[in-house]
Amino acid sequence: MSVHKPELKKVTTHRLLEMKQKGEKIAMLTAYDYSMARLLDGAGIDILLVGDSASNVMAGHETTLPITLDQMIYHASSVIRAVERALVVVDLPFGSYQGDSGEALRSSIRIMKEAGAHAVKLEGGAEIKDSIARILTAGVPVMGHLGLTPQSIYKFGTYTVRAKEEEEAQKLIEDAKLLEEVGCFAIVLEKIPAKLAAKVAASIQIPVIGIGAGQNVDGQVLVMQDMLGITQDFKPRFLRMYADLQKIITDAVSNYITDVKSNDFPNEQEQY
Ligand code: KIV
Repeated sequence: MSVHKPELKKVTTHRLLEMKQKGEKIAMLTAYDYSMARLLDGAGIDILLVGDSASNVMAGHETTLPITLDQMIYHASSVIRAVERALVVVDLPFGSYQGDSGEALRSSIRIMKEAGAHAVKLEGGAEIKDSIARILTAGVPVMGHLGLTPQSIYKFGTYTVRAKEEEEAQKLIEDAKLLEEVGCFAIVLEKIPAKLAAKVAASIQIPVIGIGAGQNVDGQVLVMQDMLGITQDFKPRFLRMYADLQKIITDAVSNYITDVKSNDFPNEQEQY
């Protein structure tokens, strides 16, 4: 089995741009805690996203809406302490940036100062342009996020594929160009037709990272719990499971329970 040996140079937004120019794909995963972030960084991941999906996979909420800025800062600071190489991007949670560019700036500054993050991510296009522009004035790099934007789930009503119709696809293309013009260093495209994602990636210079957006983009992102098979009952078409940790963990824990109950653990070598 070949092991991917990462170069030790830190990943920067400039490096990501170079990767796009050279056609090198960008690998991104979510992380929310120190131990996992250390493993993912050590394995050579390019970007770690402290996603507001923490609301689902860490806290068990149905949507991403309940997670707070304080909770995002807690997760982000744990990840930052673990990372030596990856670029760490942190989601601005719902309610911390929409409709008020001053609040967007203050929220981003808290994330950079208190967690030590490298960049922030915001969901939306033209409607949050002012917030993005304001954050950029403080020298904070911004990643955009278009397509299925889970913070707007109550507007969409469903987690189904976005931008299948011409009008929404056209708005998405315009939004992507706008995010590039305003100064975003990269954009996530979530759950949109592969052809549309490829068109967007080819029409802008900044990297486009897809999740459920096909292979003709500049990189891919998955939620770590989903790709490691920890999440239960979530099997969208775009997800490839790289491990079955649910089985590995369940087997390990049931072996432990058996050993404790039968007094097999601890044995003489495992005591003082
Ligand atoms: O919060 C998250 O995990 C995300 C990814 C799905 C891109 O935004």
